[in-house]
Amino acid sequence: MAAKPNKAVGQALPHDSAHLHVCGSAAYTDDLPEPRDLLHLAVGMSSKAHAKIDSIDLQDVLSAEGVVSTCVAADIPGDNNCGTIIADEPLLAVKHVEFAGQPVFAVAAETVDQARKAARLANIAYTELEPILDPLSAVEKQSFVLPTETLQRGEAESALSDAPHRLQRRLDLGGQDQFYLEGHIAMAIPEEDGGLLVYSSTQHPDEVQRMVAHATRKEAKDVVCICRRMGGAFGGKESQAATIACLAALMTVKTGRACKLRLDRDVDMIMTGKRHDFVIDYDVGFDDAGRIQGVDFMFASRCGISADLSGPINDRTMFHCDNAYFLENVKIVSHRCKTNTVSNTAFRGFGGPQGMYAIEYVIDDIARTLGKDPLEVRRQNFYGIGERDTTHYQQTIEDNIVADIVDKLEADSKYQKRRTAVGNFNARSSILKRGIALTPVKFGISFTATHLNQAGALVHVYRDGTVHLNHGGTEMGQGLYIKVAQVVADEFGIGVDRIRINAADTSRVPNASATAASSGSDMNGKAAQNAAAKIRRRLTEFAARHFNVAEALIDFHGGIVTVGEQTLSFGDLVQLAWIDRVSMSATGFYKTPKIHYDRETFSGRPFLYYAYGAAVSEVIVDTLTGEYRLLRADILHDCGDSLNPAIDLGQVEGGFIQGVGWLTSEELCWNDAGELTTHGPSTYKIPTCSDLPPDFRVSLLQNARNVEDTIYRSKAVGEPPLMLGLSAFHAIRDAIATDDNPMPDLQAPATPEAVLNAIEGAAK
Ligand code: MTE
Ligand code: HPA
Ligand code: MOS
Repeated sequence: MAAKPNKAVGQALPHDSAHLHVCGSAAYTDDLPEPRDLLHLAVGMSSKAHAKIDSIDLQDVLSAEGVVSTCVAADIPGDNNCGTIIADEPLLAVKHVEFAGQPVFAVAAETVDQARKAARLANIAYTELEPILDPLSAVEKQSFVLPTETLQRGEAESALSDAPHRLQRRLDLGGQDQFYLEGHIAMAIPEEDGGLLVYSSTQHPDEVQRMVAHATRKEAKDVVCICRRMGGAFGGKESQAATIACLAALMTVKTGRACKLRLDRDVDMIMTGKRHDFVIDYDVGFDDAGRIQGVDFMFASRCGISADLSGPINDRTMFHCDNAYFLENVKIVSHRCKTNTVSNTAFRGFGGPQGMYAIEYVIDDIARTLGKDPLEVRRQNFYGIGERDTTHYQQTIEDNIVADIVDKLEADSKYQKRRTAVGNFNARSSILKRGIALTPVKFGISFTATHLNQAGALVHVYRDGTVHLNHGGTEMGQGLYIKVAQVVADEFGIGVDRIRINAADTSRVPNASATAASSGSDMNGKAAQNAAAKIRRRLTEFAARHFNVAEALIDFHGGIVTVGEQTLSFGDLVQLAWIDRVSMSATGFYKTPKIHYDRETFSGRPFLYYAYGAAVSEVIVDTLTGEYRLLRADILHDCGDSLNPAIDLGQVEGGFIQGVGWLTSEELCWNDAGELTTHGPSTYKIPTCSDLPPDFRVSLLQNARNVEDTIYRSKAVGEPPLMLGLSAFHAIRDAIATDDNPMPDLQAPATPEAVLNAIEGAAK
């Protein structure tokens, strides 16, 4: 959509806090003025992966310099629980510890250093138990956090045995740390008469409010949670921010003083959950053209010690193991493995990326078996339009544009010419090898739990015509707040500079869902529009009455209200309406229409619509060392009619690179004792600016209005681009495939070591 003059929606406006980010004055939770008497907390963690606690002796902790108080499980007045969907994990360990890093106690001291030093002085006696440290051992021992789920459509078994070709493979797929730049943090402040004010770096202030109330034995009305912004979250602060907030709140209740808990990077990585790593088995049958006849998937994910969000995450893996492909005969078994490692949680894509990884590997293997270009096999398997268009969970795809996007990207990126060039290069170069891959993305938008698809907003208009905006969404850098402000600006026909964007605050907008599932702007945009429209309606009625003009002749535009023949400023109209005693405050609400879904049968319409995209990556690999560079990436991504193309472009670029990091350089390692050995940037490598492809061409699909009635026909963009990173992985695999080793056993993350293994594995 071309941006309209004097309209905010569709403009490439900068992030509302960009000027604050760059000069360092954007206030994150740790930057807030500290209350008098503030105490700083640290967490005492289990050193064992699985053990019985024989005794906890905190004498040395308590007598350490600056220490004021400690808190163990027995000190918790309310629920000792941090499980948000299922109450299956204690905030502080009771009789057992189940992972190395599990919180056992908290300590409060006058300074951060004092608290952190004291936390190491505890004498905890353990009797060690046998840990389960990987998903396959968990499957063997039937150790699960939730029951195994199975989804079937058609006849996978007979389709497999009847197919002209058949392949099987086991895949190891690594996890990923969110590595938000701002770690987990919360500050709790006691208020009069038992009230608690909690500043939390959370995607879900409502849940922090509820969990803090439960832990401290208060009611929701007694707890307020505020989050102005997070320094990144990426799913890591969807459920687990509540743990940090509860510990701060518990210590505040115990000491009567404000308490702040800020995890340092190592503790954050050890103590909080990540993307689930998976072991995946596939068995596929296909015809000579590469069309899949039947496929059987076994997914086993590392959930850690508790369910956390693993139920819906693994469901999303099951939903997305089709990516853009029609799977007529399919059987999916999904094990949610209980391991003695930290409870894994949401991470951009929420299980979807792992499902897509599986099917893209299947497609790549089919192509390499048949000696075809993988792009050709992808096309063979795309969902159709009007036929072959029902997913394995019975949703009919009504907005399929994947073939169009892929065709356009193939042409724009000169894929075919470059594929030939890659082949020519490789024929001449024996050690350095190039590879290229084009992969598509289709990602379902909505929370799969239907009831979570609701949002609220609160809008006030002041007498000078400026606006106070609140909604239940949180800002984590994704640009939600500016997008919603653009929507409200256009409702009133004013500039975004007339709107104050306020922190997410449970006392202003109640019962909000997490800002997650990429649905932040879809839902909060509609809710805020609904609130603003109510006020505009009242202003319109007033103006019609006051100036005796038909309502149809009243228009709000460019800060001016046109009332028949005359014009006045928006502020002047508001002032007149105030004199006439018109209410200038309204709440708004939105619930996503059309969706329904039966979890028992895994069928229905879990998603309102799909977001699409495609990417081409080209790499060069040194086959002696396994090192590689991403040389060029071309992306075409569908944001519908973008609310803000500058923000959306940033999301596409950032999501892609984060996906590339997941599949290439970011490697989580645990030792035999179940300790995470990669808990800082020295051992865990996220992509940096120097990892960007030197030639990076990203565009948003134009004239792409959403077929569904979303806010200004835009599409959610937060998560889908992450999965475009699959193209880089497959480009690496393409580079190292040879006649002798046509299907390299490349596992993810494709670190140089993994690449070398895939090359040498064949030689052995
Ligand atoms: N972008 C930035 N800069 N920081 C983040 O933490 N989180 C991602 C995505 N983009 C994230 C981000 C995730 S996991 C989600 S679900 C969406 O943003 C959430 O925001 P939205 O629904 O407003 O897009
Ligand atoms: N996506 C992201 N977060 C969620 C979801 C989902 O589908 N369900 C519950 N939390
Ligand atoms: Mo995003 S993983 O849904 O927070």
